[in-house]
Amino acid sequence: MENKIIDGKSISSQIKAEVKTETDKLKSEKGITPGLAFILVGENPASKVYVKSKGKACEELGFHSVTETLPENVSEEVLLELISKFNDDEKIHGILTQLPLPAHLNQQRVIESLNYKKDVDGFHPLNAGRMVLGEKCFIPCTPYGIVELLKRSNAETEGKNVVVIGRSNIVGKPVANLLMTTKFNSTVTVCHSKTKNIKDISSRADILIAAIGKANFVTKDFIKEGCVIIDVGINRIEDKTKKNGFRMVGDVDFEDCFDKCGKITPVPGGVGPMTIAMLMKNTLDSAKGLIYE
Ligand SMILES: NC(=O)c1ccc[n+]([C@@H]2O[C@H](COP(=O)([O-])OP(=O)(O)OC[C@H]3O[C@@H](n4cnc5c(N)ncnc54)[C@H](OP(=O)(O)O)[C@@H]3O)[C@@H](O)[C@H]2O)c1
Repeated sequence: MENKIIDGKSISSQIKAEVKTETDKLKSEKGITPGLAFILVGENPASKVYVKSKGKACEELGFHSVTETLPENVSEEVLLELISKFNDDEKIHGILTQLPLPAHLNQQRVIESLNYKKDVDGFHPLNAGRMVLGEKCFIPCTPYGIVELLKRSNAETEGKNVVVIGRSNIVGKPVANLLMTTKFNSTVTVCHSKTKNIKDISSRADILIAAIGKANFVTKDFIKEGCVIIDVGINRIEDKTKKNGFRMVGDVDFEDCFDKCGKITPVPGGVGPMTIAMLMKNTLDSAKGLIYE
């Protein structure tokens, strides 16, 4: 049973251990400590949790990190000034503005104000464009985590039919673009809410990536026997047997698909832990000057 489960917890720990070893080496040989700046705007509880756990990962791996918290009603001018300060700070190799931002702020303008050489989230149009072209760039952390899960669980991508359900700018679109580059050589189909016959399309997939945000959407009649399933979804559903009254599930009905598929990521413990690990990897690579000089 273990072989069928793609264990994101253990793979992400392995990646973090590799990053730690390289960080120690970078510090001792070159005197460079990878530095990550977090900008948190407002009181969104999920954003606070994400920034806290990313900060904890920095501590574990020996990164320098700074968190700046701005009030919910901060002006765009003040936020852009802070980004500009980090853009020029030599100790900072990566800047992460936790999304979503409050509605009065122009998210795209904020993303584009980042120095693309410190855009470790990979959301700047320059990095997004370079990824499509197959050029060196920061790859967005969740798509990067997905391809690492495939690679490290020996799931071949070359020549495979990949179906991605979801076309968001942070998961669906970038993972589809990444897998069609010559590095991965997959044949990719993208489905979204207006797609007809999703079941027919997805049941031809060798690799099915679900990034929808709908609990247990994918059932066994969506999949081909032996396919690899990557479940990106994180959904909270009511569960009266739990102390807190809920539990987290993915976009894939894990129990229903388990026997029919070849490999599958669980939720939690699949894609989720990979996102932070790849953020650390991107920041280390930035500090090493591996992406941009
Ligand atoms: N594990 C992680 O680290 C991680 C990271 C990011 C996100 N997530 C999770 O992944 C899920 C997706 O996130 P996201 O940011 O990509 O979500 P999003 O921005 O809401 O995008 C959802 C996508 O799913 C499509 N969709 C919605 N209903 C559909 C349906 N009935 N049939 C087919 N397609 C449908 C939408 O189509 P349209 O474009 O037509 O609206 C959209 O493209 C969420 O549960 C999120 O919490 C996890």
